[in-house]
Amino acid sequence: MRTYLVTGGAGFIGSNYIHYMFKKYGDDIRIINVDALTYAGNLENLKDIENRPNYTFVKANICDKEAIAKIFAENDIDRVVHFAAESHVDRSIKNPEVFVQTNVLGTAVMLNCAKAAWELPDGSFKEGKKFLHVSTDEVYGSLPDDENAFFYETTPYDPHSPYSASKASSDMLVKAYMDTYKFPANITNCSNNYGPYQFPEKLIPLIINNALQGKKLPVYGDGKNVRDWLYVEDHAKAIDMVQEKGKLFETYNIGGHNEKQNIEIINIILETLQEMLPDSDPRKAHINQDLITYVEDRKGHDRRYAIAPDKIKRDLGWEPETYFKDGIKKTIAWFFEHEDWMKNVTSGDYQKYYEDMYSNR
Ligand code: NAD
Ligand code: TYD
Repeated sequence: MRTYLVTGGAGFIGSNYIHYMFKKYGDDIRIINVDALTYAGNLENLKDIENRPNYTFVKANICDKEAIAKIFAENDIDRVVHFAAESHVDRSIKNPEVFVQTNVLGTAVMLNCAKAAWELPDGSFKEGKKFLHVSTDEVYGSLPDDENAFFYETTPYDPHSPYSASKASSDMLVKAYMDTYKFPANITNCSNNYGPYQFPEKLIPLIINNALQGKKLPVYGDGKNVRDWLYVEDHAKAIDMVQEKGKLFETYNIGGHNEKQNIEIINIILETLQEMLPDSDPRKAHINQDLITYVEDRKGHDRRYAIAPDKIKRDLGWEPETYFKDGIKKTIAWFFEHEDWMKNVTSGDYQKYYEDMYSNR
């Protein structure tokens, strides 16, 4: 039985990945989820699997060497899937330091502990051990408004925000471990994800939540920045395929050719909400374009992201399975069914963050 150490498994993509893995492998794998439970970590995301005998949660910070080394000492870890990170660009602009700590130092701790646990006396590594570093397409910088320009695995790194700079630094550390020690790892660089359990500071859940509450829908700048949206379960599947079928030491870009301007996304959400809410729902009356409010642009706002997923498609046969029109419906339906989840995560700390972030916009 393979044992996985998943970091950041209580966050958005990590919790979707854990659900995906149990759905796929059932009792044939064991997962240890290590998460510090920051504002973005929520054990409610894993409620339905928390009592599985093959699942363990450990509350620890990935910067805490002793805590991470202890997990490796007490368990024969076969796979590391490293999600834990500070993940929100706007927060990184306000407070870059914690991004360096978690994303760079935390990754160094994870690499070091895995290396110490897996290295043999001759400097080679125990058979079959693998580390997968989950990263972002934002490390490649920004593309022009030219529909033929894409990010490839060979595109030079050119990060702009403190978030993407910290992720680029962590990718470089993983590359350094692969090059220097032949440390058995892969890196994946994925485009923007959306789906269940996404924290409502990110565009899609924020717009769904605000529209349902009749709050303003803040559009940064001219609303024409482009992101390449992927349904989170398709990302989870790609991560598993890269780790099991990918070539060690390689990077794989993950994306589904689903580029959309932010304003298009907002309009699709408004239309889909109108379509899905029953006529008897009083919220229907206020869900319209009048809620759209253009606000001050994000500092250093990257214009366009677009992944060329040719390599993962050609070498591993991965393709996204969820069309955006279906994925957005599934996501909205999930938010309808989980109003308590939204209430819980939008109380307390997040409410204060929201007031700070949007008070001048
Ligand atoms: P998220 O913010 O929803 O979750 C991050 C998780 O990491 C949370 O559970 C949090 O508690 C945990 N965490 C944060 N700091 C920690 C620390 N110091 N020690 C231990 N745990 C800590 O993020 P997400 O959107 O799920 O992203 C997961 C990963 O995927 C990140 O590495 C991110 O860079 C990458 N990624 C995200 C996207 C996206 O669209 N969200 C796209 C591509 C790549
Ligand atoms: P976001 O979800 O923060 O992801 P990222 O910055 O990592 O791509 O933002 C997606 C896009 O939406 C980005 O161009 C910024 C824009 N945006 C808004 O226009 N309004 C908002 O309130 C937010 C959160 C984002």
